[in-house]
Amino acid sequence: MLHSENATPAVDEEFRHGPTGTLTRLAGAAELAAVNELHSRCSQGSLYKRYLGTRTGLTPGEWQHMTNGGTALTWVTYSPESPEHLIAVLQLVGSAGGGSAGGGSADLGLLIEDPWQNRRLGTALVRHARTQGHRIGATAITGTVDRQNTAMLRILRSLGASLSFGGGSVIDAVLALPTIDDGLAPAQRERHPGSVGMASAGCLPRG
Ligand SMILES: CC(C)(COP(=O)(O)OP(=O)(O)OC[C@H]1O[C@@H](n2cnc3c(N)ncnc32)[C@H](O)[C@@H]1OP(=O)(O)O)[C@@H](O)C(=O)NCCC(=O)NCCS
Repeated sequence: MLHSENATPAVDEEFRHGPTGTLTRLAGAAELAAVNELHSRCSQGSLYKRYLGTRTGLTPGEWQHMTNGGTALTWVTYSPESPEHLIAVLQLVGSAGGGSAGGGSADLGLLIEDPWQNRRLGTALVRHARTQGHRIGATAITGTVDRQNTAMLRILRSLGASLSFGGGSVIDAVLALPTIDDGLAPAQRERHPGSVGMASAGCLPRG
């Protein structure tokens, strides 16, 4: 099923972002090579913001874990001009134990290729992740963000995340996921999903 950002999606199959025309869908095992090619095209600054370290790609073991669908979800985004050109990867990786909202938490990771940044794709992808965390039992999304990462912090603030100084140069964020009891009709919940919690485990894996 294909839906636009402003439509009312019943399930997450594919996600079309209007402003960029990009298509996002759940990742498959065979897409690791394209994801690592994305890493190779990204600037060192973008990779550092993503991993808070010097990582330049993912291993097959990490990719298998991130795409297992049981404790982790990964989405990939493709350019509209070149459908084989992967321009972003979004991950929710469940953490052991409960999050601050009382249930499980999931660490958010997002990397967008530099020329595709600052086009509101990151905002749309984080909002999308917020609506899907329940699929791996998450009640909160967590993350650690470099304090200089203005774009990510603006996204999180706009979603009502709780931000706290994490020591050094990082900010810990926690965003609670929407629940059935939030008082919104299902369609409203999809258009205005609840908060995404980012906790101190952060944008994993780090370098
Ligand atoms: C951080 C990231 C996900 C943000 O996604 P994006 O598509 O570039 O951001 P958006 O276009 O949705 O913009 C979000 C907000 O940040 C602002 N913004 C975007 N780029 C900015 C920049 N370079 N400097 C300052 N503000 C910026 C936008 O104006 C917007 O603010 P607003 O909603 O108040 O108008 C993306 O830039 C990225 O992948 N960066 C490298 C990896 C990373 O930092 N990952 C996050 C940690 S896991």
